[in-house]
Amino acid sequence: MAKNTWFETVAEAQRRAKKRLPKSVYAALVAGSEKGLTVDDNIAAFSELGFAPHVAGLCGERDLSTTVMGQPISMPVMISPTGVQAVHPDGEVAVARAAAARGTAIGLSSFASKSIEEVASANPQTFFQMYWVGDRDTLIQRMERARAAGATGLIITLDWSFSNGRDWGSPSIPEKMDLKAMFQFAPEGITRPKWLWEFAKTGKVPDLTTPNLAAPGQQPPTFFGAYGQWMGTPLPTWEDVAWLREQWGGPFMLKGVMRVDDAKRAVDAGVSAISVSNHGGNNLDGTPAPIRALPAIAEAVGDQIEVVLDGGIRRGSDVVKALALGARAVMIGRAYLWGLSANGQAGVENVLDILRGGIDSAILGLGHKSIHDLSPNDLVIPEGFRRDLGVG
Ligand SMILES: Cc1cc2nc3c(=O)[nH]c(=O)nc-3n(C[C@H](O)[C@H](O)[C@H](O)COP(=O)(O)O)c2cc1C
Repeated sequence: MAKNTWFETVAEAQRRAKKRLPKSVYAALVAGSEKGLTVDDNIAAFSELGFAPHVAGLCGERDLSTTVMGQPISMPVMISPTGVQAVHPDGEVAVARAAAARGTAIGLSSFASKSIEEVASANPQTFFQMYWVGDRDTLIQRMERARAAGATGLIITLDWSFSNGRDWGSPSIPEKMDLKAMFQFAPEGITRPKWLWEFAKTGKVPDLTTPNLAAPGQQPPTFFGAYGQWMGTPLPTWEDVAWLREQWGGPFMLKGVMRVDDAKRAVDAGVSAISVSNHGGNNLDGTPAPIRALPAIAEAVGDQIEVVLDGGIRRGSDVVKALALGARAVMIGRAYLWGLSANGQAGVENVLDILRGGIDSAILGLGHKSIHDLSPNDLVIPEGFRRDLGVG
């Protein structure tokens, strides 16, 4: 009998991903930084929040749809950009197809393994994500390439502070998959035959390059080559953010905002959206969970720009908690990476279905007809939960 590939929770998808992926690929997705305080808090903070459900007079039909950055989406969950190297041969194309099949948008990382052209044609609701890598002309060239490919929005992620070192050890990732690296990593691959077989079927090895960072007519740089260019790039100012926003001219998200003062500066720079985010805890360790910083930010700027949250979303009830505290929608990172690792495109669809089911169940229990009816009154919020950063 064929094995049942369906899973019922994101936690189960993660267990399957751990079994399926080579150790260093799994470790690169778990990531986190330093002592892991932030990556842990991103999850733990959601567990501190409770619900205040109703018992009768509930709504038989519920509406989960919304819009973000001008895109209608069937539920308030989008795909956060991740540089997915070596997880699955179809990589971000599989994720884009899954998101399209479930009626939602995808953020494509500029460090992704698939090109913006392939991904935008798999899902017309694609936002291209950029870091501040290279000079202004280079940034414009990448942005215009994304526009020509059909990207409907731009995400600029500015919260990276080049943290390195983890108390539990970092995975060793080769510069490129040459013969030497293949021998070095062969023992890991051999213990993961299903993962190896997925790549073997395509006749290709994970190439660990970044096609969206290629200069016109040139070979794409390796992941580490591009990272080196990034480290050597002067850091952007708020004027730079406003400049890039103006060059793009369309829906524009600043990702990684954790403070009210920064959120206000983002409004002044003309952005259309921000994501309250700490990069999934992969960055400055000790930064609190985004869900703690969200209420103050949403109160300050939520009527001027769209406020999205990412970090720690593993179930539909987490999404509902974020919306009740002022987010318009959320983006997911590891949750879909576990789904992709466990079962490719179908695994990502499975994750999106789990989240949709969980959102719907919470909306039902809370007695609402629509996600837009959520408010802090739906939650049990313990004293001291909030972290109002940058307020005075
Ligand atoms: C393996 C990995 C790679 C990531 N790469 C990027 C990236 O290239 N660009 C970016 O803006 N964020 C990146 N992120 C951060 C995610 O977009 C998102 O902020 C984070 O994963 C959300 O937390 P969650 O994983 O708990 O959902 C990455 C996260 C992970 C786990």
